[in-house]
Amino acid sequence: MEAVIEVIDLVKEYTIAKKGRGLRGSLKSLLFPQKTKVNGVDGISFSIAPGEIVGYIGPNGAGKSTTIKMLTGILHPTSGSIKVCGISPQADRKAVVGKLGVVFGQRTQLYWDLRLGESFELLRRIYQVDKATYEENMAVLGDVLKLNDFIDTPVRQLSLGQRMRGDLAAAMLHSPSVLFLDEPTIGLDADAKHAIRDFIKEMNRKMGLTVILTTHDLDDVEQLCSRLVVVNHGKVVEDGPIDSIIGKLTPHRLLVVELERPCDDLSHPAATIIKQEGLKVWYQFEKVRVTAAELISDLSQKLPIQDLSVKEPDIEDAIRAVYKGY
Ligand SMILES: Nc1ncnc2c1ncn2[C@@H]1O[C@H](COP(=O)(O)OP(=O)(O)OP(=O)(O)O)[C@@H](O)[C@H]1O
Ligand SMILES: [Mg+2]
Repeated sequence: MEAVIEVIDLVKEYTIAKKGRGLRGSLKSLLFPQKTKVNGVDGISFSIAPGEIVGYIGPNGAGKSTTIKMLTGILHPTSGSIKVCGISPQADRKAVVGKLGVVFGQRTQLYWDLRLGESFELLRRIYQVDKATYEENMAVLGDVLKLNDFIDTPVRQLSLGQRMRGDLAAAMLHSPSVLFLDEPTIGLDADAKHAIRDFIKEMNRKMGLTVILTTHDLDDVEQLCSRLVVVNHGKVVEDGPIDSIIGKLTPHRLLVVELERPCDDLSHPAATIIKQEGLKVWYQFEKVRVTAAELISDLSQKLPIQDLSVKEPDIEDAIRAVYKGY
């Protein structure tokens, strides 16, 4: 199937002022400013198929926003190529903008002084959405996002959760086929997060909407994304199904054993004892070297085991490992 987004060897070089060390250095750089170049994005490639929900994740400064800004045509790449729905945002920004919806969790595209409904009407004119399409879209969006309760409220009086629902509707008014979400659930309470995740899932299922989501919220990733593209230092460090990324990054499992009485030899050749507290022993083992069942069977032959549990790593462990390991 034809990719909705195709990014090849994308690079964005920023020029920044070089600052000297200490007082002497600071003075010197003030008098003789020197420039240095850094790559905010340093050779990124990926391809996204229609209908995917992809988590674009990575630590602060990894290059996520820089990538999104280039994909939406706000920033010009230093080199590399981008195609969104077959069109280059650099060659024809207007055509690309028509295919995209963008929501920045920290900003709004609604008009502070207008009522929510008036804001939509104004955006309809800016996006040049015909009346019939607009009304059809508003009916669906209003229903799924439950906008009716506050459609006549001035935007400045909306709660953060209401405003975010308004922003999502605004991004979808012109029936885009791709939605970029930069931290869409930041600062929201559990109910509002839930409503927003439901909306994303619903639009994806009903309209085949392709979603690229930047977030630091692990629940967003877990509940929405089937695939993760993990970036760090401007490069893609992982790209694949969420399950295999977790498996790859956290190969260790933990077996916690509780003994009936103290024993001398607790060792096992394929496992490492990482902690011991009274009669409780923590074994760390690699799934590829020994299965939990084998380990339990071996240990129970030599030890009087009273109780045991196996701990699987979760998405939180995996992402912590991603952030630490690169
Ligand atoms: N306008 C700019 N001028 C110079 N350097 C920049 C500029 N914008 C970003 N950078 C640098 O490029 C790198 C990538 O920044 P970017 O904003 O894309 O990160 P991010 O992944 O979005 O991080 P965060 O999770 O904090 O939002 C960082 O090192 C940042 O300092
Ligand atoms: Mg960012």
